[in-house]
This record gives sequence, structure tokens and C-alpha cells, in this order.
Amino acid sequence: MSDKPVALASDHAGVDLKAVLRQAMEAAGHTVLDLGTNGAESVDYPRFADAMAAAIRDGHADRGVLICGTGIGISIAANRHRHVRAALCHDTTTARLARQHNDANVLVLGARTTGVEIARDCTIAFLTTDFEGGRHARRVEMLG
Ligand code: RB5
Repeated sequence: MSDKPVALASDHAGVDLKAVLRQAMEAAGHTVLDLGTNGAESVDYPRFADAMAAAIRDGHADRGVLICGTGIGISIAANRHRHVRAALCHDTTTARLARQHNDANVLVLGARTTGVEIARDCTIAFLTTDFEGGRHARRVEMLG
């Protein structure tokens, strides 16, 4: 597991969940790199996906969590960056498998579609599960 901070970002729809997840990650011993947004004012989710991609590209974080209303827009935007493997998850099984099989480096959650407890459990599963490698490594390499 990386010693680097875990990057965390959301649009306005995800601000409340972001605060909950920040607390949960810090309680679990992680340092959090909060990339915003930090208020209710409407903002554009691609900017926060781009900020996440830049934080990972520049080595400020190896892993991150992104949130928007559904998780859809911000995951589409994040996956435009080739070094990002962003997985939109609605349950802990997919959060775990996103790490084990896909080596996902960004967990994406929908604040309006996933309950707080499930979102918290997904985050902990994502941060505590290693990539299995093996046959999955070849496939992940093929993603570019
Ligand atoms: C913002 O209203 C909303 O469209 C955004 O958070 C997200 O759900 C887009 O996919």
C-alpha cells in the first residue's frame, strides 16, 4: 500500500459525502489530499476529474476518490486520462473487484444514488484491497 495521500474530489453534488469520506479515511489512518470543491455553488465536474488526474500524474497521490451526483459524468471525464482507471461502484463487491481485477486507481461514487454507509464501505474496501496481478495484469496493460 502507498504511503502517499489519497486524493479526494467532488462537484457540488458530492460535497456532503466528500466530508463524510474524508473523515472515514482519516480515521482509517490515511492522509487526504482534498482537491475540492468545498461549497454548494454549482461547479463543472470535469474540472475535478482533471484535477484528480493531474494529482496522480504529478505523483501527489497514487489513488483517489471522485464523487458527483450519479458518479457517471465524473467517471467519464476521469477515464479520458489514460493513466486513470476510474471505477464507478455502487456496492462493496465491485469496489473490491475494481482493485483485485482492474487495478483501479480511482473509486467513483454517486452521492445521489449510493447511501452514505455503502459509500463509506466501498471506500474502505477500495483502499484495503490489493491488485491480484497474474492474468489481470496483461489485461490492465492492454488498457494502455
Ligand atoms: C450535477 O447536477 C450533476 O449533473 C452531476 O453531479 C453528475 O451527476 C453528472 O454526471
